[in-house]
Amino acid sequence: MKIMEIEGNRELSGTIRISGAKNATVALIPAAILTDEEATICNVPEITDTDALCAILNELNVDVKRASESIIINPKSMKNIEIAEKFSKKLRASYYFMGALLGKYKKAVMYFPGGCSIGARPIDLHLKGFEALGATVKNEKNKYIVEAKELHGANIYLDIASVGATINIMLAAVKAKGTTVIDNAAKEPEIVNVATFLNNMGARISGAGTSTIKIEGVETLHKCFHEVIPDRIEAGTYIIIGALCGKNLKVDNIIPEHVDSLLSKLEEIGTELEVGTDYVIISKSDTYKSTTIKTLVYPGFPTDLQQPFTVLLTQCNGKSKVTETIWENRFMHIPYLNDLGADITVKNQTATIIGPTKLTGTSVVATDLRAGAAMVAAGLLAEGTTTITNVEHILRGYEQIVEKLTSVGAKIKIREI
Ligand code: UD1
Repeated sequence: MKIMEIEGNRELSGTIRISGAKNATVALIPAAILTDEEATICNVPEITDTDALCAILNELNVDVKRASESIIINPKSMKNIEIAEKFSKKLRASYYFMGALLGKYKKAVMYFPGGCSIGARPIDLHLKGFEALGATVKNEKNKYIVEAKELHGANIYLDIASVGATINIMLAAVKAKGTTVIDNAAKEPEIVNVATFLNNMGARISGAGTSTIKIEGVETLHKCFHEVIPDRIEAGTYIIIGALCGKNLKVDNIIPEHVDSLLSKLEEIGTELEVGTDYVIISKSDTYKSTTIKTLVYPGFPTDLQQPFTVLLTQCNGKSKVTETIWENRFMHIPYLNDLGADITVKNQTATIIGPTKLTGTSVVATDLRAGAAMVAAGLLAEGTTTITNVEHILRGYEQIVEKLTSVGAKIKIREI
């Protein structure tokens, strides 16, 4: 088991370079099998979610070559075999193989995906989308068999603007006969990145990034080269850490527009920020005002930054509120923040934070990926040593977190126990 130890209360300055987006990468890797030719993807983060998807590609006999932040995927000799539970349970996004295999072979067999326990996380909208395209779905003891004689275009309205369902339907529809329209589609930047990748391979997708996406089916897809966009959640996490402990901390290689909702909130509470074309420079302020946030689909405040942002709210004067509207179980970090000295109560889907409170290091748990990021942010601020267990969750989504933070002055290490 790995544990992380942080000696907090140190000023952080220097530059942190943001890696490629996890949530784009985890869709781009399965999407690459839709062609029979080679796809080169660069700016791929070295995180364990990437490793887990490459392990699935290996199982499917896909040739994968990885070299410093690039990945070359060649599915020429690929076999469409069942994806075993030991692979699918490693991450939620393994479900993108359902859409990709269905799109390519008209058949996908895999187990229910895993991932962070932040809510019920059903996949009904994905499955309804596949059915609308002409597939049948059988579910036998957690195993899904999705197949079609032929996939045809359809008009699909998503009851919820789900990121996963939008991408999965795109993957299944890209080679279907005729035109598919997804209404109430999710608008997250990662969806645009995946649509661009597919279009680079010869797909005909328009409207990605808006709530109506049109996919005109094509027969074949060809080789391509593609770059993953910067990770807006990783960027947001380090920007929040900058507001907690930074002295001119530069968070570099970002698309500031992708973190607009966070930057607005930071300005509202009184953070000192310089926003450049592809960076943000941030310093800790002496006093912060309290605020309220409500998580929403993009471009609203991202649920994935709610947990790290709550740490910052412990340093704001007065009463702040966080309302989580996307996931029903995303306050598991709160008891640990209280153990560190925060004053937070949770009622229904709202956390009330009274601040400012002094945080002091203790033992805490990374209950899920972004709760883990919150623990890191809290540990960097807290006086004394914070020990975080279940670090595996953090390593699923943050490339070289120890190295990046050490390079700006943090005292942080991971050790095996
Ligand atoms: C993606 C992100 C995750 C982020 C989330 C919301 C990836 C790999 N993960 O997750 O980091 O927190 O978007 O921004 O990109 N829902 C259904 N039925 C479905 C699908 C979703 O009811 O078939 C519900 C979910 O339970 C949730 C909401 O819709 O309440 C949003 O989920 P969704 O956008 O699908 O999230 P993910 O794609 O799983």
